[in-house]
Amino acid sequence: MRPIQWLAVGFFLLLDFCTGQRMVSIQKGRLYRAKGYHITIWCNVSGYQGQLQQDFQWSIYKPSAPELELKIIGTHDQFSPYAVYDQRVISREIYIERLQGDSILLHLTDLKDQDAGEYQCYTPNTDSKYWGTYSAKMNLSVIPDTLSATMKMRSLSRDQGDSLELTCEVSTATTIHTHLSVAWYIFKKEGDGTAQKIISLSRDFVLLPGPSYQQRFSSGDVRLDKTGSKEYKLSIANIQPSDQGEVYCEGVEWVQDPDETWKDIARKQTDRISLTVRSLDQPTYIPPLFTESHMQLFLSTNHEQTTEGSALVFHCNGTTTEKSLSVTWWRIEKNGDPPLFIASLDQDGTLKIGHSYFERSVNGELRLEKLGPSIFTLTIYKSSATQDTGLYRCEVAELSKGKSWSQEIATKVEPLGLNLNAELSSRKPNVKLYEDFELFCIVSGNSITSQVPVSITWQFKDSSGMTGYQQVVKVTAGGNVEWGSFAPHLSLQKKAKITKSSSVSQLLIHSATWQDAGMYRCEIEIWENSGPARSSAMAPHAVIPSNPIEIKVIPPESKLITYTSEKSLDVFSNEDITIDCKIISLTKKNSTLEITWYFLPLYPKNAAPLMILRTSYDHISEYGEAFNSPRQKSKFHSKKISNHLYQLLILSADNDVPGKYYCEVNEWIWVIDAGWHSLGKMGSGQTTVYFKLSENKPHIERTNHSITTTENEDGTLKCILKSPIQPTYRFLVSWFKKSEHFAAATLGEIMSNGSVWYSNVNTARRSQPHSPSVGNFCLKLQDVEMASAGLFFCQVEEWQAPNSTAPIQHESVPTNSSQICSPHSLYRFLLFYPPVLFLILVGVFLMLYFRRKHVPKEKVALEQNMISGEELTVWLAQSHFEPSGKNDK
Ligand SMILES: *[C@@H]1O[C@H](CO)[C@@H](O)[C@H](O)[C@H]1NC(C)=O
Ligand SMILES: *[C@@H]1O[C@H](CO)[C@@H](O)[C@H](O)[C@H]1NC(C)=O
Ligand SMILES: *[C@@H]1O[C@H](CO)[C@@H](O)[C@H](O)[C@H]1NC(C)=O
Ligand SMILES: *[C@@H]1O[C@H](CO)[C@@H](O)[C@H](O)[C@H]1NC(C)=O
Ligand SMILES: *[C@@H]1O[C@H](CO)[C@@H](O)[C@H](O)[C@H]1NC(C)=O
Ligand SMILES: *[C@@H]1O[C@H](CO)[C@@H](O)[C@H](O)[C@H]1NC(C)=O
Ligand SMILES: *[C@@H]1O[C@H](CO)[C@@H](O)[C@H](O)[C@H]1NC(C)=O
Ligand SMILES: *[C@@H]1O[C@H](CO)[C@@H](O)[C@H](O)[C@H]1NC(C)=O
Repeated sequence: MRPIQWLAVGFFLLLDFCTGQRMVSIQKGRLYRAKGYHITIWCNVSGYQGQLQQDFQWSIYKPSAPELELKIIGTHDQFSPYAVYDQRVISREIYIERLQGDSILLHLTDLKDQDAGEYQCYTPNTDSKYWGTYSAKMNLSVIPDTLSATMKMRSLSRDQGDSLELTCEVSTATTIHTHLSVAWYIFKKEGDGTAQKIISLSRDFVLLPGPSYQQRFSSGDVRLDKTGSKEYKLSIANIQPSDQGEVYCEGVEWVQDPDETWKDIARKQTDRISLTVRSLDQPTYIPPLFTESHMQLFLSTNHEQTTEGSALVFHCNGTTTEKSLSVTWWRIEKNGDPPLFIASLDQDGTLKIGHSYFERSVNGELRLEKLGPSIFTLTIYKSSATQDTGLYRCEVAELSKGKSWSQEIATKVEPLGLNLNAELSSRKPNVKLYEDFELFCIVSGNSITSQVPVSITWQFKDSSGMTGYQQVVKVTAGGNVEWGSFAPHLSLQKKAKITKSSSVSQLLIHSATWQDAGMYRCEIEIWENSGPARSSAMAPHAVIPSNPIEIKVIPPESKLITYTSEKSLDVFSNEDITIDCKIISLTKKNSTLEITWYFLPLYPKNAAPLMILRTSYDHISEYGEAFNSPRQKSKFHSKKISNHLYQLLILSADNDVPGKYYCEVNEWIWVIDAGWHSLGKMGSGQTTVYFKLSENKPHIERTNHSITTTENEDGTLKCILKSPIQPTYRFLVSWFKKSEHFAAATLGEIMSNGSVWYSNVNTARRSQPHSPSVGNFCLKLQDVEMASAGLFFCQVEEWQAPNSTAPIQHESVPTNSSQICSPHSLYRFLLFYPPVLFLILVGVFLMLYFRRKHVPKEKVALEQNMISGEELTVWLAQSHFEPSGKNDK
């Protein structure tokens, strides 16, 4: 065969220059093509005669059997392909495309390893003679597809104006020399559904931007750099919402064919990654589709209503385990308002913070977390009433699949201190001495349920009102107890107990005394974090005082009872008197008593009581102003017989004594920390003391004496007392004479100090009052004559207060008929004692009668008459003096 062929070729070459002859051309081999791709091989015929539409048939000679022609496909009907290709032809996996009548393309749409071999294109003769070539051959190699293109990211989310970098890894392991090209494409949401090229790097390293990226390529916003042996990086600066879509990268492997043209033999696209671009003006809210799903989204919050300062936590829980979810949080202040972007967390962990939340995020007040594949949280640590109230939207998106879900929940943040109130209460405002008492400070208002720190200060104002409210104790928001340092209540710390829960504080005071009585108040202070959430700096926000409560500490009810019956007592001069102060019952067995004795004069009737003496609870005796003289101090004494019997001793009763006496008992107890306290006082019944003259007291002798003496002799008249006058007493003895035709006239007086007074000089010569011994009062008549005869009286006036002769002493003599000679007393005497007056008058008449009847002419008759009432301390003596000297002579 070979020599013939060679000859034929020789002819062909030779004759070609002369006349046209059939010539079959085939694409120049050897071609290298990658397995799995769609390839073509061309074939055409020229120099033919006959019909324009030429037939073609393709065969293959495989390297395993180079002699065996395997028919693949032909253009004419009679053609029968080899069995192996039959199915591939029928399924149009292999087909012929006619370009012209004499030019075709063989298509192998899915190149397989066994497609490698020597291909022959044959054209049956349509000419009148065989002339030229009828077939042509070329070799095809099938190489494995080792091209790969990958991108690690799955989705991206960017704000308008952000930049983006995407790296694509493209590599091949082909043994032949190939070139690679890399290109980035985007499927835009609003586009026509086809990918738009962003930029590409050609096999000969030329950068070519896509038509819509020309300008941004020129401005440098769009770049593509080969950053490593396999790495190709796309950078886009100043991302625009129009950049949103799905981005992928494509790598193409190129081979240079023997005809020197470059042919792409393999191409690989990466997965598409979704790029979300948030417009800063408008959210890219995607209506939920409940780029269909079984996922359900649950949005919950820890506080649907809370107060400023507490942390708001939102849980956005999805039911899917899909990993590439991103979350975006929005706040809608009120219905109809555009949503405000808070923050977002991409599937790759990229955190984006909205403009209005940026500062709070820097302060650590904002936190976004992904707790599970579809469990997201948003925490706002220090909520504010104005900034954080509203509707919160959680938007979960799966951008690569074009799915999103969203849910909304409302939260209300109330201002701190709203409706805050402190109420102080007590079970018993009146506390018994030594009893425990409790006060409750109840804090109400919206802040209480939340974790807002509240400090409670207990304050006290004592009953004196000298100072304002002072701090007793403070429980800080952190739970520390700080005791106040003001003096009156230092001891309180020892006996007070304080407890505090979030809304109630209890102050328990053990064993109350007077010091604990006063006004109580609690004051609550709300604190808010002034600094970042993570710092502990706090600032007081509001201070609210409670209502005050007055605590009265009441002493034990007094059970003091004294003996109140009235009594009267007759005393005689110089007698000692004992007046009882009897106590029937006391409040406390061991209480201490203060006893005060009072004196109430009998006259005038409404006279104020005078304090005699007081023995205080600490056994100190004190005399009243009117009883302060040494004499009275020695006269009046108080004495304790038992806890139930006290006595007043009055030594040596005299005219000062009459009057009413009573005691006042004041019961004292010693109160710890507070000193002595009076439980109450009670007066006793009054004891009326009457001063009486005893029977053996000096009385003037009431017998009439008649003394007869002779003229020119002396005579002595005696004022006779039945018993002697007290040596301490002062007296005044007055002598009177009543002559026949004359009214009674005073002769003279003698005083207890011995001084003598005469009414006139004549009298002084003839009659001398004198007191030869104590209690003996005499009138010596010297050298009597007839005219000396008459009726003589003596009057003894006595002072009971021996140290004073002042008229007040005189008049205050309690013996009711002693002032017979004083004008006041005489008046009273006349008023109250007409019988006595009558007696005296009768006495005078009788005297005159006796004188006329019995007195002898020659004698000077001195008649002494003594008139005395029982209690009278003034005695009147009357003597009939008869001078007898004449008769004797
Ligand atoms: C055969 O066809 C191809 C493709 O149409 C063309 O490039 C080539 O020049 C043709 N060859 C001849 C000999 O006509
Ligand atoms: C095809 O390849 C084989 C083996 O290398 C070779 O013998 C043959 O001549 C080639 N055919 C063409 C047309 O080059
Ligand atoms: C969401 O998930 C969190 C964490 O697992 C859980 O504490 C919360 O109760 C969940 N909320 C809802 C509404 O399921
Ligand atoms: C009185 O007695 C009570 C106990 O019965 C005691 O506690 C108190 O200290 C006593 N007071 C005085 C003043 O002795
Ligand atoms: C006696 O007392 C009277 C009155 O008090 C007084 O005037 C007189 O001087 C006194 N006489 C003597 C000697 O003390
Ligand atoms: C009263 O007089 C007596 C006796 O002379 C004397 O001891 C006493 O101190 C006097 N009292 C007053 C208060 O003068
Ligand atoms: C005066 O003395 C009489 C006799 O003792 C007595 O009955 C009377 O009550 C006394 N008067 C006064 C005011 O004490
Ligand atoms: C004393 O004398 C007077 C008058 O001469 C007479 O009235 C009176 O009863 C006498 N007294 C006595 C106690 O005899």
